[in-house]
Amino acid sequence: MKITKICCIGAGYVGGPTMAVIAKKNPNIKVTIVDINADRIAAWNDEDVSKLPIYEPGLAEIVQETRHKNLFFSTEIDKAIDESEMIFISVNTPTKTYGKGKGMAADLKYIELCARNIADVAKTDKIVVEKSTLPVRTAEAIKSILHHTGNSINFHILSNPEFLAEGTAVNDLLYPDRVLIGGESIDAIESLASVYGSWVPDDKILRTNLWSSELSKLTANAFLAQRVSSINSISELCEQTGADVNEVAKAIGLDSRIGPKFLKASVGFGGSCFQKDILNLVYIARSYALNEVADYWEQVIIMNDHQKRRFADRLIKTLYNTVSGKKIAILGWAFKKDTNDTRESAAIYVADHLLSEQAQISVFDPKVPCEKVLIDLNYLNTRTEKENESATECHQDPYEAVKDAHAVAVLTEWDEFKSYDWKAIYNKMKKPAFIFDGRNLLNKDEMNAIGFEYHAIGQ
Ligand code: NAD
Ligand code: UGA
Repeated sequence: MKITKICCIGAGYVGGPTMAVIAKKNPNIKVTIVDINADRIAAWNDEDVSKLPIYEPGLAEIVQETRHKNLFFSTEIDKAIDESEMIFISVNTPTKTYGKGKGMAADLKYIELCARNIADVAKTDKIVVEKSTLPVRTAEAIKSILHHTGNSINFHILSNPEFLAEGTAVNDLLYPDRVLIGGESIDAIESLASVYGSWVPDDKILRTNLWSSELSKLTANAFLAQRVSSINSISELCEQTGADVNEVAKAIGLDSRIGPKFLKASVGFGGSCFQKDILNLVYIARSYALNEVADYWEQVIIMNDHQKRRFADRLIKTLYNTVSGKKIAILGWAFKKDTNDTRESAAIYVADHLLSEQAQISVFDPKVPCEKVLIDLNYLNTRTEKENESATECHQDPYEAVKDAHAVAVLTEWDEFKSYDWKAIYNKMKKPAFIFDGRNLLNKDEMNAIGFEYHAIGQ
């Protein structure tokens, strides 16, 4: 099928950037991104591209170049489904918060709603593409819903998981390591391959069966997260033994079989997907009674929770075993640099633990709006909103955030933190002035020379 019109359901961190790049590279395809969230669509349509709902380096330029030409953002979901030959489902698949599988399984209600919506509206044959990350065999459920419409329309289902990372989404989309397409119909697979073929070399477009494709996505995230938990587990051992985790990571990473990437010890991984996808993998394994498999992967999460907790505990212990009434400045609230996304950010959990120990926290992040900090803390339900509010300050200026603080905790690896005037920060803080560098971002010798008591991960 020759694709001239694409619809993408879900204008989020994946749908937005992915479709923007598809539109840029396929000027002859009309791409419409739809969402039930009218505010989000309005933000995508804002003439001032600095107000787009998602911050990604390079994204605003691509949106500016393609929007109203062949890229459209709309809330008219039925219309976009009706007129498209290919429909991407790119809605959220969060961890279930209720019922069977609560806290483990992926909640597929949004996926099912999309499938039913497509089944209701479609009048011509469609290729339906799973872009969201889904449990293996979800395509079976989608197929079952679509094939029971009774209107003799042909639906072909493809799995095309997305591997972009936030903060580098545009670059990852423009130069992917691979594009994965799983399916049963060769024609449908080749239709999607030709969309990517506008800019991705064919040898990087991998064709597999549906289930391999679905499972590869969960597996890729599990392997990546596992590397972070592995190096983080070693960081704790480094702190006890005098080894330096940066040196260990470098030494093992030079082995070409191990490789240097994803070996940066940290306060713990965050983001909307690693934890959710591993929990989902664990749940699937348990549902097949594969308990050893489930336990194996669950350990990645257990280690990550431990790392976040132990970072906060170390800070408290170093501050003479109490942070009660002390101001702790948190630099960085996003789950990684170059994004405004805070989902599952380690900073939230560290801050929550410090608040439970009656600390006053003072937050600065270059891209996260202040109101988001309280929303994230309130979401945990650890204490009342009023209590969170009275113990939390948020600042637009990092030098204000650190004023009279007993300690600074660096929780996101924003580049700009490195070039701050740390001498001025030192002068504004209470003495002794502590830094807890959850990203091993700052230069230890420089910090010590200024007078800080500097603590990094795994050193
Ligand atoms: P998101 O929450 O940013 O966006 C999802 C959007 O879907 C929301 O705007 C929501 O309003 C919309 N939506 C939900 N149900 C809808 C419906 N029935 N009709 C229309 N719109 C609907 O989520 P995201 O981060 O873009 O993630 C989407 C999927 O992609 C998830 O499965 C995730 O695991 C996967 N993924 C995410 C990333 C990432 O970096 N964020 C990377 C790879 C894969
Ligand atoms: C991750 C994967 O890298 C993407 O391939 C995948 O598409 C995506 O999840 C997804 O499915 O959502 P993302 O979560 O955006 O992307 O960002 P990462 O760069 O993977 O970082 C995740 C977390 O791990 C961050 O908190 C980061 O700071 C942390 N991390 C990463 C480390 O602590 N150390 C490292 O060496 C690498």
